[in-house]
Amino acid sequence: MNANSVSIPLSVVVTGGGRGIGLATVQLLLERGGSVVVVDLDVTGADELARQYPRRLQRFAGSVTDEARLREILELASREAEVPLNGLVNCAGIAPIPTPIEDCPVEQWSRVLESHLTGSYIACKVFGAAFAQSGAPGSIVNVASVLAHRPGPVLAYGAAKSGVISMTEALAAHWAARQVRVNAVAPGWTDTPFVRRKGRSDKEFRSILDATPQGRLLDAAEIAEVILFLLSPAASAVTGSTITCDGGYVAGSGWAPYGGFPRIPRDAPDQYATTHPSRETV
Ligand SMILES: NC(=O)c1ccc[n+]([C@@H]2O[C@H](COP(=O)([O-])OP(=O)(O)OC[C@H]3O[C@@H](n4cnc5c(N)ncnc54)[C@H](O)[C@@H]3O)[C@@H](O)[C@H]2O)c1
Repeated sequence: MNANSVSIPLSVVVTGGGRGIGLATVQLLLERGGSVVVVDLDVTGADELARQYPRRLQRFAGSVTDEARLREILELASREAEVPLNGLVNCAGIAPIPTPIEDCPVEQWSRVLESHLTGSYIACKVFGAAFAQSGAPGSIVNVASVLAHRPGPVLAYGAAKSGVISMTEALAAHWAARQVRVNAVAPGWTDTPFVRRKGRSDKEFRSILDATPQGRLLDAAEIAEVILFLLSPAASAVTGSTITCDGGYVAGSGWAPYGGFPRIPRDAPDQYATTHPSRETV
């Protein structure tokens, strides 16, 4: 391990850790010996893990848009933590609803920007600044999206996630000399309640799979593995980077004019499966 490595074991704040990609990250961190502080509007999703790992998991209800609450959580969690906090994963955010600009109230635009971009900014401001001040190495992973690279009809969401990537790069340079690394992951369509929202039609699911060369929804645990890599000393030289983990979604987006990319033959109607032949062989 070199001087820039994050100290082991990891002690990580996961916003949005109550379900989906955040909860999968919490579980992976705990399984690999880390300590975790969950911050979510609803922390009950982490109840079972709290029973399994009572000494290494703390849970706090709160909004990432509330700076005073995050400062309070920093203080309370630091008091209880066996290992000083040295990691932050910004996963919290609300699912956007595609709405044409003509019909989209400014409040709807603002709510999405607030939870994804301002919320990540506030969490970096509170926890990242504490890591920088501590003199010990720290690591932040912001969760962006492929929609930052390939915008769709969710304008505020794409803008928020582009902003998250820009902020990631700026903070990486800002804190590099203080041994705090800042990176992002840009997931593709992942099997969480965020994607399986009520009212999404089978036709929409089919379109998602058709746009993804691996032909499946991703598993939240696969995104968590990439997040853990970025948090870990294995990524000690990586800062200011965004790792796309999307089953080929971005890579495949230029194939439409050429008749599309090769598709996986399907005999069974397993269109929402999160497993893929390539995963079973690695
Ligand atoms: N699922 C996907 O396909 C996908 C793809 C790309 C990026 N992402 C991003 O990954 C992150 C996690 O998504 P997910 O699919 O796990 O979503 P999810 O809806 O399953 O979980 C999001 C969690 O964030 C919490 N949350 C929302 N607003 C909050 C706030 N203001 N303060 C605290 N907690 C709040 C929710 O309570 C929920 O537990 C999001 O930033 C999302 O934009 C998801």
